[in-house]
Amino acid sequence: MTDKLFIFDTTLRDGEQSPGASMTKDEKIRIARALEKLRVDVIEAGFPAASPGDFEAVHAVANVINDCSVCGLSRALDHDIDQAAAALKGAVSPRIHTFIATSPIHMEMKLRMQPDSVVEQAVRAVKRARQYTDNVEFSAEDAGRSELDFLCRMIEAVIKAGATTINIPDTVGYKVPERFGNLIHNLITRVPNADKAIFSVHCHNDLGLAVANSLSAVLNGARQVECTINGLGERAGNAALEEIVMAIRTRGDVFTCQTTIDTTQIINCSRLVSNITGFPVQPNKAIVGANAFAHESGIHQDGVLKHRQTYEIMRAEDVGWTANRMVLGKHSGRNAFKAHLKRLNIEFTTEEELNAAFARFKELADKKHEIYDDDLQALVTDTLSSE
Ligand code: KIV
Ligand code: ZN
Repeated sequence: MTDKLFIFDTTLRDGEQSPGASMTKDEKIRIARALEKLRVDVIEAGFPAASPGDFEAVHAVANVINDCSVCGLSRALDHDIDQAAAALKGAVSPRIHTFIATSPIHMEMKLRMQPDSVVEQAVRAVKRARQYTDNVEFSAEDAGRSELDFLCRMIEAVIKAGATTINIPDTVGYKVPERFGNLIHNLITRVPNADKAIFSVHCHNDLGLAVANSLSAVLNGARQVECTINGLGERAGNAALEEIVMAIRTRGDVFTCQTTIDTTQIINCSRLVSNITGFPVQPNKAIVGANAFAHESGIHQDGVLKHRQTYEIMRAEDVGWTANRMVLGKHSGRNAFKAHLKRLNIEFTTEEELNAAFARFKELADKKHEIYDDDLQALVTDTLSSE
């Protein structure tokens, strides 16, 4: 594939920054394994300097994942970078991701630093990270509100220092698609050594524009998108992985690049993240919502029965849905649970496995009005993989 779009998943780092979404080491490992099956390119497993628990989690993920790069976040500080490198020890393909803010408001009010010193610190951080790995990503935090000339200067300097991926975050979700696309275009055309790095974007969803901004950036040359399963993330969240991937795949007439994601794993990942965090997916959420492929009105049903493409631009099966939707609720008993599993051809080898799955089903049923076939399937997979 010549024109690849890299998918950088940050569910385990920025996703975990959703208030109430923190995850244990074992939960992170389970999600990381699902992301590996989904074939994301990079898994950002956490922020090792943030806490001993996160250090351990990143280390554990780094040592069970073989087919993706595993990344640790660090501020542009020696100690953070050393911690990230130590946590990533053992990874098949480690990436250190270091960042510092570049917007006037962040530099003046948060960092209380002069722009020259910010560039110096960024360069030093990238050079230090390069002592550990040749896979170094630099993020210009709050790039969306940074001045173009300063951003160009910063990016040129960090590429020279060895950064191989340059990430342009819209940290506060301030940009609109046309302007964000222009920003990416201007950076790629103005930074003299831009061809030495992959340009990446990381969009937050404060105005509901994270996916639109990311796609606009892709149209303007970005070749890595940072995103999360179900759009989990700080405040209103990050760009949703499933929406980015399916937009690129469905609109091959618009986008020249492709991802290598196995889209049939999307629903499993979505369910797993939702179950672990306890954050439900809204029914009308694109791609992964329970109603995303449901047809309610008679006219639509009639059209779909005659030809699916009358009201479907994607196939439910391509993102991992099954055709059947069964309704189970919290009042369902063990026999009903067993009957539904039987209909789905799911059989446990031991009574303990069935009991564990039933207990998980009851927990989930307390959080959701209806339990669908796909919930059951994800729950069983989850039960069996954690036994
Ligand atoms: O939103 C942001 O700016 C970030 C960076 C650390 C990449 O999460
Ligand atoms: Zn972020």
